Formats: sequence, C-alpha cells, structure tokens
Amino acid sequence: MTKREAEEKLSRYDQGQLLSFYDSLDESSRENLLNQIDQLDLSVLNVWKEEKTKGISRGTFFPLGALTIDEIAKKRDLYQAVGQKALREGKVAALILAGGQGTRLGYDHPKGTYNIGVTHPLYIFECLIQNLQDVVKEVGVPIPLYIMTSRKNHDETVRFLQEHSFFGYPADSVRFFIQQMAPSVDYSGHIYLEAKDRISLSPNGNGGWFTSLKEAGLADQMERDGVEWITVCAVDNVCQRINDPVFVGAVIESGCECGAKVVRKASPDEKVGVLCLEDGRPSIVEYYEMTDDMIHLKDAAGNLLYNFGVILNYMFRLDSLERIAGRNLPLHIVEKKIPYIDAEGNLVKPDKPNGYKFEKLVLDMIHMMDSCCAYEVCREREFAPVKNLHGVDSVDTARELLRKNGVEL
Ligand code: UTP
Repeated sequence: MTKREAEEKLSRYDQGQLLSFYDSLDESSRENLLNQIDQLDLSVLNVWKEEKTKGISRGTFFPLGALTIDEIAKKRDLYQAVGQKALREGKVAALILAGGQGTRLGYDHPKGTYNIGVTHPLYIFECLIQNLQDVVKEVGVPIPLYIMTSRKNHDETVRFLQEHSFFGYPADSVRFFIQQMAPSVDYSGHIYLEAKDRISLSPNGNGGWFTSLKEAGLADQMERDGVEWITVCAVDNVCQRINDPVFVGAVIESGCECGAKVVRKASPDEKVGVLCLEDGRPSIVEYYEMTDDMIHLKDAAGNLLYNFGVILNYMFRLDSLERIAGRNLPLHIVEKKIPYIDAEGNLVKPDKPNGYKFEKLVLDMIHMMDSCCAYEVCREREFAPVKNLHGVDSVDTARELLRKNGVEL
C-alpha cells in the first residue's frame, strides 16, 4: 500500500492521525505502518457508531431448564458410554481459548503460563492438560487439542508448551491458531497509535474463534479427520474439565445443536450470565440485563427459574458452526486502559480507562444455535476462574478450590 492509498482509506473513516508521525519515520518503519493500515479492518467503526446510537437490541426472555446433577446421575452410564464412543472415534475435538490479555490479573504473559503452585510449580496449562489426560486415559486415544492464541502471545505460548513437553500430551495432537485483532479507540472513535509506527490493536474477543479456525484451514481439516463436535473452553478455569465423556454423551443424546456447562447461581443476584431462551432460541442474558422480576422468578417448587450461570465451557456441532459461519456476531464495546503515544510521541500508560476495545463473544454464538443442552456441574469441582490476583475469581480462590479437590499445591 502506498502512502496515498493509506490516506484515502483512512480519510473515509476520519483516521488521518495514524499517519501523523509518518514523515519522521525511516523507510522500514514507514513500510511497517502502511502494512498495518492495509490490513486494518475499519468496518468495526461503523458497527460501533451504529451500536452507540441504537444499542444492542434484545428480544423476549424466557427461562430454560437444565439437566440437573441429579438427573445426570440417573443416566450417567448411558451418557458416559455415548461420550466415550464418540471420543474414541475421534469425533470430538477440544479447543482452548487462550488469546486473551488477562489485564485484570496484571500478569504480562499468556495466562496459561501462570504458576498457580505454592511449594512446587503448577501452571494453568498444566492443570487443564492434566484434566484432559484423565479423559485420554479413560478412552484410550488422544483427543485432538486446538489452542487459540493472539499475535500478542502466540510465540510465548508455543515456546512455553514446547519447553514443558506439552505436560505429557502428545505434541502431534496439538494445533495452534491465531485469532484476529481489532483497533482500540479513544472516546471519540479515533484509533490510538501505541508507537509512531504501530497501531494499537488488541485481540478481538473470544467470539471470533471459529472464523479464525476456518481461516487457518483447520475447520476443513477437522472435517476431513471426521470431527463432528468441538468443545470450547476458557484457559483460565484451573478446574476446567475438558471433554469429560458424561458431558459429551449428554449433549449428543439431547439431540441439541450445542451444549453448555452451567452452575447453579450462588444467590439470585450473583453477577453471572444466565442461560435462557430469547425469542425462542437459546441465549445468555447478562446479570445487568435482568429485571428484578426475572431475578426472583420461581417455579411451583420454589426453584429460581433463571438459575443457571454459564462457565465458558461449550460444545458445538461442527456442521452447525459451518451453517452460521458467514453471520456477524454483535460487537461488544469494552472500556479499557489503553497505552498510547501522545501528540509529541511520548508513551502514556493511563491509570484509568481512556477508550474502547471491540470484542466478539463466544456466548453470542449460542443464540445462533437452534437448541442448547444446559448441563449442570458442581461449582466446587469445576469452576475456579482466575481473573484477578486476589478477591473474587482470583488466584486465591482458585488455589482454595484446587486444594479442596485434592490437588497438592
Ligand atoms: P476474559 O473475557 O476473561 O478476558 O476471557 P481475559 O483477556 O482473559 O482477561 P481480562 O478481561 O483482560 O482481565 C475469557 C476467555 O476468553 C479468552 C481468554 O484467554 C479466556 O480464556 N479470550 C479472551 C480470547 O481467547 N481472546 C480474546 O480476545 C479475549
């Protein structure tokens, strides 16, 4: 791309500031900047403007029941057999979303490389892979494992897992792919520069995973390999049970297009997204979108009806993902602290939010599915997200839960 072409592209979106230092750059930095402008997807700015005026509109919510722990226990043998068979036949891949920046944790490396151990090293990736190894032992074949990274953490993630010999997982069953990036803007919608020759970009949320998987040619590869289902989960839940046969079997038996692990809310007003129906389709209603009536709505037996929170552990049919592949997910606008360079070219690291990042979320894919099997799991066994260092959903709470589950730290 030439400077003239870059100016034309940017002027259509009032983003000329990205070239403010161009004339002071050396040849290779100029080329670098022009390449970034060439690849920049500016259409997010139109979506942002539209959403800013209209907001994301929601439909009519209705409760959605879940397979409860008791119900699952009654059919455990059946679900386990169905799940084991599908896993043994290589029909279910596992995918870890590990492209996030983990800003709340304040750890400047990929979150999966965080050492949660106390007296000996125990890395987050290690916890996840150990849990997956339990399934491999049970079914006797390796599960194809896909890991999504971002351009910001890809090399470090791959190097870390190689240096640790994938914690004993067969390396030829692991594949990586890189997610897309989106520009970060100030409050008036102008994209920040993070260096004179570098546009401020951040991973575009965990919802872009299937598009990125396809772009890497891996969705086609899965089809050729006979994969029919993909389970998708967050990297930061150290108790994450990935592809456990009973869950896999329950979702397959349900006949639904997807499944979601859920936990019973700790209290009616717990701040979690709740699985429900929206205009007759499965969906997730955020805690701040729920009215007081919804929060306290009960059935005849006194059970809360909006009672099952999602824990970012889903299972999707591959052909259903292909069906929705061309459709746009809503764009979530997240207020963040964004480092940038000022008009004099000095790097500023703000101590309070100064703009927006744009993210697509995997939970919005649930609403594109015709049906979803909500599958209750025990929070104390399966849900220990590491978002912060201390307090709620933190290293401290995750350690406590690991200990309760018999893990030596
Ligand atoms: P979070 O939404 O908690 O974000 O990610 P985060 O980046 O880990 O942490 P904060 O908000 O900056 O503190 C939930 C899951 O989605 C993945 C994360 O790696 C985590 O597994 N994720 C998030 C991506 O893969 N890509 C993204 O762009 C964002």
